[in-house]
Amino acid sequence: MERQRILCVGLVCLDIVSVVDKYPEEDSDSRCVSQRWQRGGNASNSCTVLSLLGAPCSFMGSLSAGPVADFILEDFQRFCIDVSLVSEHAQCASPASVVISNTSSGSRTILHTNRNLPDVTADDFSKVDLRQYKWIHWEGRNADEQVKMIERVMMHNSKLPPQQQITISVEIEKTREPLYQLFPLADVVFISKDVARHFGFHSAEAALRGLYSRVKPGAVLLCAWAEKGAEALGPDGMLIHSDAFPPEALVDTLGAGDTFNAAVIYKLSRGEHLKDAVTFGCRVAGRKCGFHGYEGLR
Ligand code: ADP
Ligand code: FRU
Repeated sequence: MERQRILCVGLVCLDIVSVVDKYPEEDSDSRCVSQRWQRGGNASNSCTVLSLLGAPCSFMGSLSAGPVADFILEDFQRFCIDVSLVSEHAQCASPASVVISNTSSGSRTILHTNRNLPDVTADDFSKVDLRQYKWIHWEGRNADEQVKMIERVMMHNSKLPPQQQITISVEIEKTREPLYQLFPLADVVFISKDVARHFGFHSAEAALRGLYSRVKPGAVLLCAWAEKGAEALGPDGMLIHSDAFPPEALVDTLGAGDTFNAAVIYKLSRGEHLKDAVTFGCRVAGRKCGFHGYEGLR
């Protein structure tokens, strides 16, 4: 069997995006330029981008039932993303974000809620047929369970020759202590500028140099930094940088990081060099910032 799929494990939610051209005053009552529903969540957004780039991909996460879940499932289908690993929790509320997307700055202000939808567990993951995947990406969330999932993949890999092993990537975006146990487990680790700052670093370069000792030997550590582009550090100790590729007009930065991660994974999963992957990541993420949503990447 040809292992060709990429699996992303993490959140899917509803994004209710209100587009404004001026950020509203507190306690004011104004009209927005437009409003839309969008499928969101880091792993779900990365799947959207992977699929648009032409990589067959699957999403694994939890979903409630009802109109919001139906909207989300239809949208996954629209982007040809496999959802056979999605688990339904009919009694739970759908996670959702209210997003104020300001077209005059490109900023996105997110208010997220997740009342009671549980994340997928190691037990759910034990049923996954690993043979079809060449790459599995985890959005760091319920780290204790995710450690067990990754250990299962490591065990699977240990019985295979290197070229048949599944590449493991993780995103550590939130500044929550339990997530940091993911550092030494992946071949490719994405950290956010929030995490970099949390550790006291003021640049991507300083964060990569300072945190590289946490990743496993041979791993790649990456850090994107908005309009400054992104940096990566691999086992040869050479720091790789790409400038950002700002669009003509900065319209919507919602999901820029998820787009960067997907584009980097896309290139690395095809055996391309780290430098090309980071540049491509910034190129695709920059393009995405020039329009609303992801459709424009088609
Ligand atoms: P997020 O806040 O969504 O996690 P980041 O700020 O880390 O995203 O940005 C991810 C990538 O998106 C950056 O490396 C860059 O390539 C691109 N990007 C984000 N914001 C901008 C911007 N204002 N101008 C150009 N590119 C941007
Ligand atoms: C963007 C995003 C949104 C979602 C929020 C969840 O990166 O995934 O789609 O509402 O973050 O934190």
